[in-house]
Amino acid sequence: MTTLSDAQSARTETPGLDQAPTTHSQLLRWVREVAELTTPDEVVWVDGSDEEWNRLTEKLVDAGTFTRLEQKPNSFYAASDPTDVARVEERTYICSRDEADAGPTNNWMHPGEMKAIMTELYRGSMRGRTMYVIPFCMGPLSADKPMLGVEITDSEYVVVSMKIMTRMGTKALERFVAEDGTERDFVPALHSIGAPLEPGQADVPWPCNDTKYITHFPEERLIWSYGSGYGGNALLGKKCYSLRIASVIGRDEGWLAEHMLILKLISPENKTYYVAAAFPSACGKTNLAMLQPTIPGWKVETLGDDIAWMRFGDDGRLYAVNPEFGFFGVAPGTDWHTNPNAMRTIAKGNSLFTNVALTDDGDIWWEGMGEPPAHLTSWKKQDWTPADGEAGTKSSHPNSRYCTPMSQCPILAPEWDDPQGVPISAIFFGGRRATTIPLVTESRDWQHGTFMGATLSSETTAAAVGEVGKVRRDPMAMLPFIGYNAGDYFAHWIATGKKADAAKLPKIFYVNWFRRAEDKHFLWPGFGENSRVLKWAIERLEGKSAATETPIGWVPTIDDLDTEGLDASREDLEASLNVDLDEWRAEIPLIEEWFDKIGDSLPSSLRDELEALKQRLG
Ligand code: GDP
Ligand code: PGA
Ligand code: MN
Ligand code: MN
Repeated sequence: MTTLSDAQSARTETPGLDQAPTTHSQLLRWVREVAELTTPDEVVWVDGSDEEWNRLTEKLVDAGTFTRLEQKPNSFYAASDPTDVARVEERTYICSRDEADAGPTNNWMHPGEMKAIMTELYRGSMRGRTMYVIPFCMGPLSADKPMLGVEITDSEYVVVSMKIMTRMGTKALERFVAEDGTERDFVPALHSIGAPLEPGQADVPWPCNDTKYITHFPEERLIWSYGSGYGGNALLGKKCYSLRIASVIGRDEGWLAEHMLILKLISPENKTYYVAAAFPSACGKTNLAMLQPTIPGWKVETLGDDIAWMRFGDDGRLYAVNPEFGFFGVAPGTDWHTNPNAMRTIAKGNSLFTNVALTDDGDIWWEGMGEPPAHLTSWKKQDWTPADGEAGTKSSHPNSRYCTPMSQCPILAPEWDDPQGVPISAIFFGGRRATTIPLVTESRDWQHGTFMGATLSSETTAAAVGEVGKVRRDPMAMLPFIGYNAGDYFAHWIATGKKADAAKLPKIFYVNWFRRAEDKHFLWPGFGENSRVLKWAIERLEGKSAATETPIGWVPTIDDLDTEGLDASREDLEASLNVDLDEWRAEIPLIEEWFDKIGDSLPSSLRDELEALKQRLG
């Protein structure tokens, strides 16, 4: 017989809450707590199955969020709210207990204060919606110590995107309790779009909130995100976990979490090299990761396009693992000529396209994808014709994205899911600079390479809300992603270099595909031609290619590069490689200003590097 209070509590219990497919007590407690705070109509434990994908994508089609593409199997088009199109750096916080631990580059608020604000925002924020519990694992499921997380979200778009971008659902949940019954730690990541529905209230295709917070509590390894449905703000396994929180874990445990692609390069002699490269958002990582070399005999395979976790192996070399499971790539500019392997990956279907344009026959189009069709529906859901394009209205948002499974990439390296990772031979830092920075420069040693990374600069892009094209320092391409004090992060890089034999450390290079002539055209053809720079760098490791020592490092002349069959003028190539001492002298005050901003936590070895550079520039 049930008592009255039992019956009452049964009535108030949120449907689904008690259907947890796990015994993990901390997870159960947290899910209950969040459900009580956010008061969803229902709780769903996400299993990652195809049936679930079909159910949720149909729900998204019915809601008007998704349009099923006729021309690509199992693929969908979405247009976001026009105010919710990119990462919001102004609204991103590192809430360490001590403000100094967030450093001079992050927004900070005391964790107690932030939690008080956000708790009130979350109160009832899932009313009228379903709360999804997504167990996920960043990096291979077979790792000895799987890197687990759980995202709670009220967005179906987030659930289906997480299925592409992470190893999630039942296969991840199975790893939460070890064979001996130990409950493993996981990163709790709470997300709400902040758009509760009153009874009878009609929903909109892209619900979100004008108030946005993307918040990290590094000591607790906890993530709270509110108000946005955009990938970088809402798919919390990516930037929030795998960069901001993981960078803190890496600092504490002695490894690196970096904004880097990972690629495998195979020489004509069949020698294999692994390369990692850090470029700021929308500066060429995905393209380089899937590069189709233009030089005969060289082959590239892909391991990752955005994030690398690097630890020392027993042999003293630095090994990289990609924590992700899919690509979240910039759409505009992606084409059969620039990135054929991305085109082949999305052609297989099972992909989501956000803020691109929709063709009348149910396919997608974006700027840079050949000739535009006679009519499109733009990302703003307006009619668009090539005449609009000529008048300067873009059909697709410059930060529109495709989201596609890595496993569909035709040049995926077979070792992509190996928990050991791959030994890195070279690290490339790069940015988008119209002037000053040569096509490629080789550092003298790890400390000098760390200086190059720490002073990396780039023009801002549409990947974050704000002004585009403004030069800013973006250290190691991690400015928006360092989860702690940037000076301490540089010290961690310097210390990493001291842990290993110099001969075993990756060699560090600095590249710039984006230098321009006076008339603004790119001096370097880029894309597949970047294989020529990779080849030169690898041959430097082998002692087989030449370079000239300059005040900024070792730079090749045109004759040191393989330019056979390259369609570019000698004048442009020379200009792309030029070390202009006046431009560099003008750079020095900017670096000084940057180092002053970092302040006392800047390692003295980096100040020494700056002084040495000044000396050499005269
Ligand atoms: P990611 O955000 O760092 O992964 O950058 P992507 O690889 O997605 O590239 C961002 C934008 O830069 C796209 O529009 C690309 O077409 C363009 N891009 C990538 N590589 C090159 C290159 O080598 N040269 C030029 N000019 N543009 C490039
Ligand atoms: P990206 O990734 O680096 O490929 O642009 C997304 C982002 O950084 O916001
Ligand atoms: Mn990125
Ligand atoms: Mn990318």
